[in-house]
Amino acid sequence: MSSSAGQRIDEESYTSWRQRSELEKMTDLPQALDDELARLDNQFWIPRTKLEEIVSRFCEELEEGLAKDKQNIPMNITWVHNLPTGKERGTIMTLDLGGTNLRVCKVDLYGDEGRKQGDGKYGMEQEQYKLPEELKKGESDALWNFIAEKVEAFFKDHKLDQQYSTQKPMPLGFTFSYPATQDRIDHAVLQTWTKGFDIKGVEGQDAAKQLREKLQERKLPVDLICVINDTVGAMIASAYNDPETIIGGIFGTGCNAAFMASLSSIAKLDPNDERITDASSHNGAVKGEEKMAINCEYGAFDNSHRVLPRTKYDEKIDAESPRPGEQTFEKLSAGLYLGEIFRLILVELLDRGLVFNQDSNQDTRKLREPYIIDTGFLSQIEDDESHKFTKTRELFQSTLSLQPSDVEIEISRRLAEMIAVRGARLCACGVAAICTKEAIKKGHVAADGSVANKHPKFKRRWTKALGEVLGWKEEECGEGEGPITITSAEDGSGLGCAIIGAMELERRTKKEAH
Ligand code: GLC
Repeated sequence: MSSSAGQRIDEESYTSWRQRSELEKMTDLPQALDDELARLDNQFWIPRTKLEEIVSRFCEELEEGLAKDKQNIPMNITWVHNLPTGKERGTIMTLDLGGTNLRVCKVDLYGDEGRKQGDGKYGMEQEQYKLPEELKKGESDALWNFIAEKVEAFFKDHKLDQQYSTQKPMPLGFTFSYPATQDRIDHAVLQTWTKGFDIKGVEGQDAAKQLREKLQERKLPVDLICVINDTVGAMIASAYNDPETIIGGIFGTGCNAAFMASLSSIAKLDPNDERITDASSHNGAVKGEEKMAINCEYGAFDNSHRVLPRTKYDEKIDAESPRPGEQTFEKLSAGLYLGEIFRLILVELLDRGLVFNQDSNQDTRKLREPYIIDTGFLSQIEDDESHKFTKTRELFQSTLSLQPSDVEIEISRRLAEMIAVRGARLCACGVAAICTKEAIKKGHVAADGSVANKHPKFKRRWTKALGEVLGWKEEECGEGEGPITITSAEDGSGLGCAIIGAMELERRTKKEAH
């Protein structure tokens, strides 16, 4: 038996998909579809031995990124030197440009005081705006104007214009969740767009400067003091409350993680760099134990195609994306792509007359629209416990204008499971690699993103794969949990960004006082 994807085939991967599946059979599949499923499972199932191979290569790429610039995984320096103490206080405005929405927040940090008074540690007012599709492939001016306009509206609506002025501006933090090179915390040169974005005029440029210019044009009383990544935000937000936080991870439209690395492990950083000695002397770190948050940007893992088992569907997604050859790992595991993989398989089955065949007289045009199916579609199929799968039928009707037969429902459930299981097992590899490299044995992975939060079975599958690859013993594990667990990063991109802003303001004050 051979596989176009070059994945190792062993007894386990070839014979046992029926035993592995958690789904109860709803109806028998015709032989041709049953054979198809076995063929697909053969390509999508990643056995433990393959997971180990992936993690071992992953560790090497993480090291390469720390050693030198311009490696597959960039391991970006963030200038966030420590985890928060939990006492940080202040009021900060934050902007969060993710893959789908722009969020503007006003965050009040109360630190321990708030907790004592029973108010919780922070308060948040926020507005969310959907990013227009044309913006994602347009010009930089349109993007920054859109953002500046929303900041202006937020200022008015939340009456902030009465409290702040250009002489006394409101501190602003920007969660810019794309790979960026930072020379300072308030600067971020975009390396490449990811997550399907393709806005002209930003790559190679300082996104902070471009945003600042638009904010100034409108004379908005804000001072942009930090630019952060969503993974770093998740880690810092979680650590504000939870000292067991080890990693911040995003399992959503994109897939990435951040952790605190010791400065001595970041070979590409000059330990005598003034900015490091300066920061360390102001944050009380003991010499030799200084740290730096690293935004891995590991969606780019295996861009040289050495180890990941890519299928022809993954190859097609890559070839038709705005940046072919980039974000190989992300294109197999992140939310933006899971629905599209599902759609490509269904279209292939359609073209071969195996589903929605002509006798059923259905209009299959919508199914041919790229990216019409999102991850939510797959989550809902996997979540459907309704009698005769009425919810799945409604979903096909509302999204694709199709009325699936029982057989088509059955094959869709199997495909949704197969694609999501592969995604979750791959997502575990990134975290396993960080833990292996850093010799982390236990702790909390603060996770955010639509796949982590909304997919009903993601956490369990992710935990199982992590346990397989890290070799957890039964006695180390609780019910569906191991020594390394996923926790939810509450408002990571807003709260985390505000805390980093407060830490930065504190650092500046100490520096001035020096
Ligand atoms: C993409 C981005 C990365 C982000 C991740 C999750 O991988 O490049 O910066 O952290 O998506 O949003």
